[in-house]
Amino acid sequence: MHNAPWEELTACANKARLHAYAPYSKLLVGAAVWAGGRIFSGCNVENASFGLTLCAERNALAHTIAQAERPKALLLLADTPHPIVPCGACRQVLVELCTPELPLLCCTLSGLQRPLLLSQLLPFAFDKSFLGPAPRAIF
Ligand code: THU
Repeated sequence: MHNAPWEELTACANKARLHAYAPYSKLLVGAAVWAGGRIFSGCNVENASFGLTLCAERNALAHTIAQAERPKALLLLADTPHPIVPCGACRQVLVELCTPELPLLCCTLSGLQRPLLLSQLLPFAFDKSFLGPAPRAIF
């Protein structure tokens, strides 16, 4: 698998996972991003207004961007029978911020691992290449 400290990423994802706020689904999810030689983690944060739920991946990505880094690898962890994969919304956000070659490792707590590339998760993505040149500021 790609050159990222996957064991450390697993430990950080698990630490974040244990802080997940998931009173509705009870599915605790942790994510860890490798970027700029550092690890940025996140957990899912649910809301009584279900649509406002924040996934662990987007949480970790936001932490990465806030430190002016760009993701180089992502690990996802949950205590499920099979490794979970990023939801559609997270895939779109990943495409915005990462290269199509971004390596992902989807893991279960029991040790199952599914390596993936972002390009496999969202082929033919809608991205900024479909938008014209950035509009000029008018003020
Ligand atoms: N969830 C994530 O955090 N990441 C995923 O990849 C899939 C789903 C969360 C959202 C929600 O809090 C719970 O898992 C059940 O969907």
